[in-house]
Amino acid sequence: MLQDKKILIGITGSIAAYKTILLVRMLVKAGADVKIVITPSAKDFVSPLVLSTLSKNKTISELSTNDSWENHVMLGRWADVFLIAPLSCNTLAKMANGICDNVLMAIYLSATCPVVVAPAMDEDMWKHAATKRNMATLKKDSVQFIDVNNGELASGLIGEGRMAEPEEIFTFLIENFFRTTEFVGKKILITAGGTIEAIDPVRFISNHSTGKMGFAIAEAFYLQGAEVIIVAGNVQVTTKYKGIKVVSVTSADEMYKATLQYFKLSNIAVLSAAVADYKPITTAKEKIKKKEQILSLNLIKNKDILATLGNTKKRNQFVVGFALETNNENENALNKLKSKKVDVIILNSLKQKGAGFKTNTNQISIYNKNGSVINFDLKTKAAVANDIVKYIKNSI
Ligand code: CTP
Repeated sequence: MLQDKKILIGITGSIAAYKTILLVRMLVKAGADVKIVITPSAKDFVSPLVLSTLSKNKTISELSTNDSWENHVMLGRWADVFLIAPLSCNTLAKMANGICDNVLMAIYLSATCPVVVAPAMDEDMWKHAATKRNMATLKKDSVQFIDVNNGELASGLIGEGRMAEPEEIFTFLIENFFRTTEFVGKKILITAGGTIEAIDPVRFISNHSTGKMGFAIAEAFYLQGAEVIIVAGNVQVTTKYKGIKVVSVTSADEMYKATLQYFKLSNIAVLSAAVADYKPITTAKEKIKKKEQILSLNLIKNKDILATLGNTKKRNQFVVGFALETNNENENALNKLKSKKVDVIILNSLKQKGAGFKTNTNQISIYNKNGSVINFDLKTKAAVANDIVKYIKNSI
């Protein structure tokens, strides 16, 4: 994921430095080339030996040693991004004032790459007027901030000022610097999850969909540069990417309305939602009491969102649907492809172990309107999402 990406990490004196050790490991595992520079006081919190071993590069802590001089200018040019995590109050103040009294500051002042900071301090320091002033100055200087969290602080107090977790910093870096460009300028619409059709104020009709597959597809598109909107019904997942817009709906009618609204501006729509085919003709205003021995519900068909998109799509719009089947898979998938007039149907069969609802894996076959069928192996939903996105890229 981060192959050939160059990340320079600055560590300053803060307890939160222990989290940066984990972050370094995550980045290296993802394929990044990581170099680390630390301030003198950071040495009290993390060992350069640990950092050098994990990053596979010598940790830089001095501007010069005996007979050699650290080329700080080249480091700031080498990196795709310079992350300072944790950023202490002291280094924040130095950055705001351009004070160059250690190698980290020398690199910061000569860096030509983007600079991102993840502050860590106690709440009182975090809220101090001087800190706010310094942060405003850094923002004006185009330094990007990773939000602090609320929680237990080094002082033992609970409050704002905790450095973001390694996973959050990792996600921030990916989202802001390392998305690829295959789908730049493309608007993608995804539906995900099940819909809920109310019977009365406490009961409803729904299904086992969790939204996992739809969210995985949305993230795969997003990481390849697309602008992504998810119209999400009842889901059990969220996305960690702030740039993915999630529009929450409940019923099939609401999903229909929202999907049609966003489809107008979309280049590609992938409808993975498990839309309830029927809804109660009327929703009881009060809770239905258990009086009768047999209770019948009268249901009426919901509008077919995918078929509406298939029938109204413009020539430059690409529409993909899913077919979740328990029998006659091939025939049903082909029928859906034709009757709903879509470009592609992705079949997943509930017969296949490890495919369908709730699992983290899926096994799909892709049916194209030109008559081709491709069967894929059982994979994680993230890997399946990548296959789908790659297939769409080659088809549009
Ligand atoms: N779909 C939809 N609107 C509906 C029903 C389904 O947009 N009211 C979409 C689903 O999101 C999926 C595709 O149609 O992309 C197929 O859904 P599926 O439940 O497999 O099939 P149905 O069309 O509902 O037909 P059946 O229940 O008879 O298999």
